[in-house]
Amino acid sequence: MTKLLAEEESDTSALGRAERLRPSRELLGIAVCGYSRDPDAGPEVGEVRALFVSSRRWRGGVGRELMEAALADLRERGFAQATLWTLAANERANGFYEAHGFRPDGTERTEEAWAHLPQLRYRRDLA
Ligand SMILES: CC(C)(COP(=O)(O)OP(=O)(O)OC[C@H]1O[C@@H](n2cnc3c(N)ncnc32)[C@H](O)[C@@H]1OP(=O)(O)O)[C@@H](O)C(=O)NCCC(=O)NCCS
Repeated sequence: MTKLLAEEESDTSALGRAERLRPSRELLGIAVCGYSRDPDAGPEVGEVRALFVSSRRWRGGVGRELMEAALADLRERGFAQATLWTLAANERANGFYEAHGFRPDGTERTEEAWAHLPQLRYRRDLA
């Protein structure tokens, strides 16, 4: 079962949340998307804010299902592009993002909350 929940704060700040649950209600993964929080982003840019799959289910298709739900949700809300932030060293996730059409857009950052590890911004069109 895939659930897509929308928590409307306003037309542009709405967050979508897709959860993949087994019938037993065990959470297999979660994706969260919304408008981009980046200061250089225009209103046409949405963001996949979080994507996690239970490690026992990696490479089982759950990530693909959640990513497709997040991208469909952003598309439905009229965003033309999607971005996401990822740790540069997270090769598993970055391979997954590239397999889903995302590419680094050349923007990098570090944050205290992530131990100042280098992060890359990935981007793709939603058309
Ligand atoms: C990244 C993550 C979400 C991928 O989820 P997943 O359920 O394992 O991915 P899927 O099984 O749906 O993969 C779908 C397709 O994406 C591609 N893919 C997945 N992982 C890949 C990888 N490491 N390298 C290259 N392609 C990959 C493949 O084409 C795959 O299809 P296939 O298995 O038939 O070849 C998952 O590994 C995860 O949650 N990791 C830990 C949390 C994390 O790092 N989140 C990102 C934070 S920025």
